[in-house]
Amino acid sequence: MSKIALITGANKGIGLETARQLARDHGFTVLVGARDAERGNEAVEELKAQGLDAQFLAISPTDADSVAQAAKEVEDKYGHLDVLINNAGTGSQEDQKPPSQVALQVFRDIYEINVFGVHSVTQAFWPLLEKSEAARLVVVSSALASFALHTDPNGPFSSYKPPAYDSSKAAVNMLTVHYAHQWQDTPHRANTIHPGSVVTDLNPNGEISVEEGAKTSVDLATIGADGPNGGFFHLGQKLPW
Ligand SMILES: NC(=O)c1ccc[n+]([C@@H]2O[C@H](COP(=O)([O-])OP(=O)(O)OC[C@H]3O[C@@H](n4cnc5c(N)ncnc54)[C@H](OP(=O)(O)O)[C@@H]3O)[C@@H](O)[C@H]2O)c1
Repeated sequence: MSKIALITGANKGIGLETARQLARDHGFTVLVGARDAERGNEAVEELKAQGLDAQFLAISPTDADSVAQAAKEVEDKYGHLDVLINNAGTGSQEDQKPPSQVALQVFRDIYEINVFGVHSVTQAFWPLLEKSEAARLVVVSSALASFALHTDPNGPFSSYKPPAYDSSKAAVNMLTVHYAHQWQDTPHRANTIHPGSVVTDLNPNGEISVEEGAKTSVDLATIGADGPNGGFFHLGQKLPW
């Protein structure tokens, strides 16, 4: 039987391409998580038209009832989950300012999906992941979460610092370290990744394609028993925290 992977925010962008690569290159049954049924089903039709095993799963990470319903659906249908990729995430134009000028509500809106959404989905699916022989949890973070890169005056982000987005991704990096710690001495693995600066609706000025951008999520979703636990990666390289 195929392994089952759930990708949140998989109706477009990096999430959709991650679903495609997991199904096409690794034989997964992919659950295309999306908050909007029309957009989610459209993505599923696109994958199915390529001969891939894709199913729509309604899941809105910021809505506890929707998350619980999605977990129940997966439990009833499959009884376990092999891979969870927390990919859904957002930023805001209102966040492109110095921190003293970014309204608290901007932080709340970004944290709601980028942080609380990640924990809500992870917690709801944790028991199903633990029913897998070797679960793989991937958190889609960003190099913008890195303290080391932000505090390097010659680093890549010396003048690009959206405070709510960056701190939300730093928060989920720390959370991932804690998920990994809970899974120490088990066959399960939890890692956080930077996809790259990828051309998507979120980042129209990105530098790489979604094909390249999905690779790191796919890599960490498919690591073997000797794979890392609690690391931060981009295209096979360890990133500084
Ligand atoms: N693109 C980059 O350069 C880059 C760099 C570093 C990290 N990332 C991260 O990569 C992940 C995917 O981003 P992307 O570039 O592929 O962006 P995208 O094309 O805009 O896709 C974002 C996905 O997240 C979903 N989403 C956004 N806000 C949501 C909310 N409040 N509730 C539920 N779902 C929500 C979107 O659903 P709808 O279609 O329904 O809005 C969509 O499915 C994000 O976590 C992002 O932070 C991206």
